[in-house]
Amino acid sequence: MKALVTGGAGFIGSHVAEILKENNHEVLIVDNFSTGKKSNLPKDIPFLEIDICSKELNKAISEFKPDVVFHLAAQIDVQKSLHDPAFDAYVNVVGAVNLLQACQTNKVKKVIYSSSAAVYGEPQSLPVSESHQLMPLSAYGVSKHTVEHYLYVFKNLYNIDYSILRYGNVYGPRQDPLGEAGVVAIFTDKILKGQSPMIFGDGEQTRDFVYVKDIARANLLAATTSSSQVVNIATEVETSVNDVFNLLLELTNQKELKAQTMPSRSGEIRRMVMSTKKAKREIGFESKFSFYEGMKETIEFYKAQIDF
Ligand SMILES: NC(=O)c1ccc[n+]([C@@H]2O[C@H](COP(=O)([O-])OP(=O)(O)OC[C@H]3O[C@@H](n4cnc5c(N)ncnc54)[C@H](O)[C@@H]3O)[C@@H](O)[C@H]2O)c1
Repeated sequence: MKALVTGGAGFIGSHVAEILKENNHEVLIVDNFSTGKKSNLPKDIPFLEIDICSKELNKAISEFKPDVVFHLAAQIDVQKSLHDPAFDAYVNVVGAVNLLQACQTNKVKKVIYSSSAAVYGEPQSLPVSESHQLMPLSAYGVSKHTVEHYLYVFKNLYNIDYSILRYGNVYGPRQDPLGEAGVVAIFTDKILKGQSPMIFGDGEQTRDFVYVKDIARANLLAATTSSSQVVNIATEVETSVNDVFNLLLELTNQKELKAQTMPSRSGEIRRMVMSTKKAKREIGFESKFSFYEGMKETIEFYKAQIDF
């Protein structure tokens, strides 16, 4: 297939582009490099420096003529979405609608959309399934969910197929440790430098951590299997922040390092773990990497990045 990957210079998008290329698909990346990096770009994959909110996007799609679009470009910073919700909505909603219009004009067959556990808000029951109520607690959660509605509308009006993948907390190589996004990236970077990471509250808050290579494989599966579906992409394993810290100490052999304890942050969800039954049924997805295996690969990546 011909596959366009938006946000392909980012953390997850670069892995999606890579797995597509490995499976002999023709790939083009579109990114404005706002958080993405040239060094993330997989070798031999062409890219265009384009903003998804711009008119150039339509031109790029009309020239490349993709069969499938993997839409990962987004403003992903939850705190930024709270401080500037208009900017968040501009990139995440207007950008996505601009993309869908270009897909309609150019007869793209399918869009694979990267959504998030943030659409659920505070879990009312665990594990969270796709039928859980949707009460996002941040502007980011609202913008990610809003695009899900647009996908439904474009399917009904213009027959553009879609898959909505709601990810748990994604971690792995190329995640930016300086960003707000990932506790794993931040802790790994700090611990490898012999510094103490900050743990907010008692550290018993939990998340469903899913390895980025599993996410990339889920995107590939979604492109070739089920239609018009919403599925969680996670592990069904609940891991606490303390578990992350302790495993990192064990794997880096730094058992004496202590975390800095900080007051808990308001608005933080206490527990999160997602059901993946539907993903297994609809697209044949099950995570292959245990947290231990994923963390080992992640540590190797950050070790190679750090200038000791
Ligand atoms: N990281 C996670 O844990 C997680 C969890 C759930 C969902 N997601 C979703 O996965 C997707 C990828 O996230 P990520 O963690 O790789 O983030 P990232 O910031 O590394 O990647 C986003 C990419 O989009 C690009 N981009 C941003 N605005 C753009 C614009 N206007 N035009 C063109 N490109 C633009 C950035 O330069 C970057 O390369 C996002 O849609 C995000 O909402 C991520």
